[in-house]
Amino acid sequence: MSGGLVTAAYIVAAILFICSLAGLSKHETSKQGNIFGMAGMGIALFATVFGPDTGNIAWILLAMVIGGAIGIHLAKKVEMTEMPELVAILHSFVGLAAVLVGLNSYIDHGPGLEPVMENIHLTEIFLGIFIGAVTFTGSLVAFGKLRGKISSRPLMLPHRHKLNLLALVVSFLLLWTFVRTDSVGLQICALLIMMVIALAFGWHLVASIGGADMPVVVSMLNSYSGWAAAAAGFMLSNDLLIVTGALVGSSGAILSYIMCKAMNRSFISVIAGGFGTDSSSASGEGEESGEYREINAQDTAELLKSSSTVIITPGYGMAVAQAQYPVAEITEKLRARGINVRFGIHPVAGRLPGHMNVLLAEAKVPYDVVLEMDEINDDFANTDTVLVIGANDTVNPAAQEDPRSPIAGMPVLEVWKAQNVVVFKRSMNTGYAGVQNPLFFKENTQMLFGDAKASVEAILKAL
Ligand code: TAP
Repeated sequence: MSGGLVTAAYIVAAILFICSLAGLSKHETSKQGNIFGMAGMGIALFATVFGPDTGNIAWILLAMVIGGAIGIHLAKKVEMTEMPELVAILHSFVGLAAVLVGLNSYIDHGPGLEPVMENIHLTEIFLGIFIGAVTFTGSLVAFGKLRGKISSRPLMLPHRHKLNLLALVVSFLLLWTFVRTDSVGLQICALLIMMVIALAFGWHLVASIGGADMPVVVSMLNSYSGWAAAAAGFMLSNDLLIVTGALVGSSGAILSYIMCKAMNRSFISVIAGGFGTDSSSASGEGEESGEYREINAQDTAELLKSSSTVIITPGYGMAVAQAQYPVAEITEKLRARGINVRFGIHPVAGRLPGHMNVLLAEAKVPYDVVLEMDEINDDFANTDTVLVIGANDTVNPAAQEDPRSPIAGMPVLEVWKAQNVVVFKRSMNTGYAGVQNPLFFKENTQMLFGDAKASVEAILKAL
C-alpha cells in the first residue's frame, strides 16, 4: 500500500472510532458502536501491516495469529463478572507495549536529527516509558485487587503523598538529565532509574487506593493506557495511534470524572487513596449490628401480589447468580397483573460501568422501566415494595447517615424509604467496600437468604 492510501485508511479508521464512541453511549446503538470500532480497528491493522514502513510481515502475522488465538480463547472463557479484571490486565499490556516501544525507539534512533527535534524525540521517549511503566504496574495491581489476589484494602505507607511527590520530582530531574546530557551512559542510567521509579510509582498509586474506588481506578488506568498509546504514536510518528490514544485517554478521563461525581468524590481524593478503610469507622467494618428479620420466597410472592408499586435494585449478586432471566420473568408477570415494576440502577452497581444495564438488556427487560438512580431516588418513599437483589454498598444508608462511614457522601439508592424492603443475599456478609449495612437491621427490611437465582425462581413459582 502507498503512503497516501495508508493516510486515507487512517482517516477512515479514526472517524469509525469516533462513531464507535458515539454509538456506545446509548443502549440502543451500542451494538452498532461495537461494529464501528471493530471495522475501524480492522482497517487500521490492515493499513499498518501492509503499509510502506512495515517489514518482516510474516513475523507480524505470526504474532497476530498467536495473540489473536489467545485473545479469542480468553474472551470466550471470561465471565461477565470477570470483565473488569480482563480490562485491567489488557491495560497493563498497553503500558508494557509503550515501555517496549520507548526502549526500542531509544535504541533505534540514529544520529542526524536536528538538536531541537532530538530533544523533542528524547522527551517523547522518556514520557512514553514513564506513562507506560506507571500504567503497567498500576494495572497489574488493579487486576490483582479485582481478582482478590491482592487485598482490596489500601496500602497506607507513612508519608505516601510525599513519596509520590518525590517520585515525580526525581523523574522530572532525570528527564532533564536525559535530554541535556551528551553521554549515552548517563542517558541509559537516567532512563533505567526512571523506569524503576515509574514501576514503583504505578504500583504504589493503585495499591494505596482501596475498596469501592476500584471502578474509578480501572477507568483512570484506561485513560493512562490511552495516553501511553498516544505517546507511542508520537515516538513512531504514527498519526492514527496518536488520535486513538487521545480518544481513549480523554474518554477514560471523562468516565473517571462522571464516576467520581456519581460517588460524590473528588478525583484528587480518589487518586490520593485510602477510601474504604478508615479505621475510625463507626460502622465497625464487617460487624453485625442489631437484629434482622427473615422472609421466605412464598411470603415475598404474597407481598409482591399485594403491592401496586415495586422497584427492583439489582447489584453484583444478581450478576454472580445470573438471576437476570428469572428477574425479567417476574417483572413480566407482575406487570401483567397491573403492578408498576421498575428498576433502579446505581451508576457503580456491579463491577463495571453499565454492568446491570447489560444484564437486564440481555434478559430483554424493556429499557423504559430501567431508570438511573437520579431518576428514581425520589420515588422510593411512594413505593410499596423494593427488591434488593444482590446489591449492598449501593443501597447502604450509612453513606448518608453516618459521616464517619468509609462510604460517607457516596450517593445511594434510598431503598429504606419504601414501605417494605426485601434483601436477597446469601449471608450477612459485607459487600465490595467491606462495610456493614444498617439497611439489613431496619424495621421495614426483611432478608431473603440464598442464591439470588434460586430465590427469584422460587418466587416465580409461587406467583
Ligand atoms: P456489593 O456491594 O459488592 O454487594 C454484592 C452483594 O451480593 C454481596 O453483599 C453478596 O452478599 C451478594 N451476593 C453475591 N453473590 C450472590 C448470590 N449468588 N446470590 C445472592 N447474593 C449474592 O454490590 P453492589 O451493591 O452492586 O455495589 C457494587 C460495589 O462494587 C460498590 O462498592 C462499587 O464501588 C464496587 N465496584 C463497582 C464497579 C463498577 S464500575 N460498577 C467496579 C468495581 C467495584 P452475600 O455474600 O451475603 O451473598
